[in-house]
Amino acid sequence: CGIVGYIGSQNASDILIDGLKKLEYRGYDSAGVAVFAGNDIEVVKSKGRLADLEKKMEEVGKPQGFCGIGHTRWATHGEPSDINSHPHSSAHVSLVHNGIIENYLPLRQMLQGDGYVFQSETDTEVVVNLIDSFYHGDPLEAIREAVLRLEGSYALGIIFEGETDKVYAVRKDSPLIIGLGKGENFIASDIPAILGHTRDYYLLEEGEIAVLTRDHVEISDIYGNHVEKEVQTATWDLEAAQKGGYPHFMLKEIHEQPTAFHNTVSPRIVDGLPNFACDKICDEDLRRFERVVVVACGTAMHSGYVGQYLIERLARLPVTVEIASEFRYKNPILNRDKDLVIIVSQSGETADTLAALRLAKKQGVFVLGIVNVVGSSIAREADAVIYTWAGPEIAVASTKAYTVQISVMYLLAIKFAMLRGFADEAFAREYTSNLMSVEEHIAEILKDSQSFQFYASKLQNAHDLFYLGRGLDYALAMEGSLKLKEITYIHSEAYAAGELKHGPISLIVDGTPVIALGTQKSLFEKMASNIKEVKSRGACVFLICDDTCENTAQIADFVIKLPALPEIFMPLLSVAPLQLLAYYTSILRGCDVDKPRNLAKSVTVE
Ligand code: G6P
Repeated sequence: CGIVGYIGSQNASDILIDGLKKLEYRGYDSAGVAVFAGNDIEVVKSKGRLADLEKKMEEVGKPQGFCGIGHTRWATHGEPSDINSHPHSSAHVSLVHNGIIENYLPLRQMLQGDGYVFQSETDTEVVVNLIDSFYHGDPLEAIREAVLRLEGSYALGIIFEGETDKVYAVRKDSPLIIGLGKGENFIASDIPAILGHTRDYYLLEEGEIAVLTRDHVEISDIYGNHVEKEVQTATWDLEAAQKGGYPHFMLKEIHEQPTAFHNTVSPRIVDGLPNFACDKICDEDLRRFERVVVVACGTAMHSGYVGQYLIERLARLPVTVEIASEFRYKNPILNRDKDLVIIVSQSGETADTLAALRLAKKQGVFVLGIVNVVGSSIAREADAVIYTWAGPEIAVASTKAYTVQISVMYLLAIKFAMLRGFADEAFAREYTSNLMSVEEHIAEILKDSQSFQFYASKLQNAHDLFYLGRGLDYALAMEGSLKLKEITYIHSEAYAAGELKHGPISLIVDGTPVIALGTQKSLFEKMASNIKEVKSRGACVFLICDDTCENTAQIADFVIKLPALPEIFMPLLSVAPLQLLAYYTSILRGCDVDKPRNLAKSVTVE
């Protein structure tokens, strides 16, 4: 979910809607605002996208005032509906909430016992009534008393009846920033929401409570002690968070990959070799590890699989990849002296990933974050951070963030190979220079988007799709398949090519599209046999290979050829074709590319 709040001298409804548009990637099941119109709090909310809320405002009238809160929702408790939409209100209080209240049922029963009547099925309505129950004229006291009783995660934006020029905010385990303007102040879940107004902001820490007026922001801890904050300055500019002439954020972000790659890799190459000095990580910090555990969700986790192949292959260092939501509840076996936990996250806020980080740290294990958002929770809590410099990623389907995440995996793999004596300097230099050459190849591949529109036209009516690969190609197949299914709604599976015959091959029928990744030269013959196995059962095969592959027309129906690099670098070249295939197929099927149904970009609930 995304939350915004405003106090200033402009029309609050407009500012809130504008901010919510920048946060819509965080959820888009329903939206709403609560604004002081004179002394009264006026609430307008609606199921559906922000456009539906705007339409409703045209019908019922836009609240006119200078202070308010807004919300765009990704449903957890209660289906998307007008009633379940935020803001939620009680007699004296209105609020917006991002997160999940775990003990909402006993609280609800307690409040019902006190006479509170509930309108919605949400956990949030419990919070608003709980605050209301402690409100006897002092908003701060009511907030403090209430949050002491809340279990779970929350970022809250709150307004109180009669307090027409104040917005209150508090957070725990869900992100929230305070934007600092001139004669106006903001709250927001993320930086893009405030960029049109200010670059200066405070990061609200766990348990801190903020009171915003036009000219002042006062922050206190849960006991009421004043907290001195440092002003942060956003490095992202507004333009980077806009479409810049592209029809969709996803296409723009796909095209930003050469730059994102450059910005991430080049500062970490010194004298032709990987060097993490700019991240304050020295060789001694890395030398002691005997195992790496990568923990992440979604696309970020897929980057871990690429890292696993690379680090094991180049540095002979064992790597496991863990789904964050599984890792945190399985009592993982960790060795504080020998293990390195790498937490990968674009947003730096994914709830399960953050919880996994905390669990590893609690066990005394060194945690390295690979994170895109500066100052995010994961970046702040990790022992060391390697920032990926992809800039803001807005489309729900992650593209450039994945490319830079795997770029960091290459740098780490080469570095570990040197430290562990599996690569001498000459070898490491050659690998590093190959890595640097990737940027121009990606740019070259992106020039030819037309052919992907053609291939997409062959996929658009598919019901089931398979992505096959071996080794690094299998890691890429997982990401290609995820990309396609999330934005086209076509069922798709990634399989290790050799494993297909142990089950899923029964699903191959006449015309089933199979995307076969065959970029790994040393495995190509094996891959070719697997392609023949599906072809002879009727599959329509799209082969992705390098341009030195011969006789490909004999084994595949369609062939996508990429510039030939040593096979270990080919994943960096296969990414863009897989993304473009998904993108154009989604367009042809008329799907909402940037905001696919049921998904959210930043999942701050577990
Ligand atoms: C969501 C997004 C995915 C993303 C995943 C992890 O599911 O839709 O695109 O890969 O979260 O997000 P993170 O910000 O931790 O990389």
